[in-house]
Amino acid sequence: VQDRPTWVPKNGDVERPNSARLYDYLLGGAHNFAVDRALAEEHIRVLPADEICRSSRSFLRRVVRLCVASGVRQFLDLGSGIPTAGNVHEVAQLAEPSSRVVYVDDEAVTVAHSRAMLKGNPRAAIAHADVRDHAAVLNSPEVRSLIDLDEPVALLMFGILPFLTGADEAAAVVAGYREAAAPGSLIAVSHFTADVEPALATKMVAMAAQRGTPITVRSKDQIATLFDGLELLEPGLVIASQWRGDGEVSGSPAAESVSWGAVGRVPHE
Ligand SMILES: C[S@@+](CC[C@H](N)C(=O)[O-])C[C@H]1O[C@@H](n2cnc3c(N)ncnc32)[C@H](O)[C@@H]1O
Repeated sequence: VQDRPTWVPKNGDVERPNSARLYDYLLGGAHNFAVDRALAEEHIRVLPADEICRSSRSFLRRVVRLCVASGVRQFLDLGSGIPTAGNVHEVAQLAEPSSRVVYVDDEAVTVAHSRAMLKGNPRAAIAHADVRDHAAVLNSPEVRSLIDLDEPVALLMFGILPFLTGADEAAAVVAGYREAAAPGSLIAVSHFTADVEPALATKMVAMAAQRGTPITVRSKDQIATLFDGLELLEPGLVIASQWRGDGEVSGSPAAESVSWGAVGRVPHE
């Protein structure tokens, strides 16, 4: 029987690997178990998974700080994983304590861990919903109590759209949230691509399929269409590690080149 730290809820399965805890381990977090670590090490033997996760997290931090600096005080993090190792509420509430954050994930173990970890933070919660079901997300008790859709909101879609493998699924998801968001809202996307490092992207797709959570990569042109009608903030749609880079290097040039990233603003009419 493994140790059960206090952040593990009663229904948190610690015998089978969980992708959010795997991600936590790859980020250097402490919310993971031997089964998760073993799977993570398997990934690292094949590709620089830890560097890729760190690079993605560094982009997330820069985006959240920009949102706060732009005056946005509420965040909807779609496909969040567990909020650990420098997640949105930590970064946003450090910059501005009144920031409100709702995480969304459809995976039960991830949600259970997250609920336990967020207990005691009145301005952060997680909704258990499929991001494709806009109504379920936007009408969830967590969104209703923490997010005012008449005010600008930051809609964060980091690493989630590749899980929506259907041809039009990513565009439909972005469009639905955009329609619900007030002018001035910010939509941030990071999305895996094979444009720059095709061999590495092929390995990422294969590992994800092996885990039972298939992903798809998309080209720059496909990702650009997600921002149609939005005002792209500088520097536009670029490799995520280069988006307002602050000099921090998270890994090899290859690991830093697997995602496109951009932030768009919902225009005032
Ligand atoms: C790669 S992780 C990204 C974590 C986080 N956004 C980040 O970038 O650090 C993707 C997460 O999306 C969740 N997910 C996948 N498909 C989903 C869906 N249709 N609805 C809600 N969550 C989903 C998974 O459970 C997982 O926790």
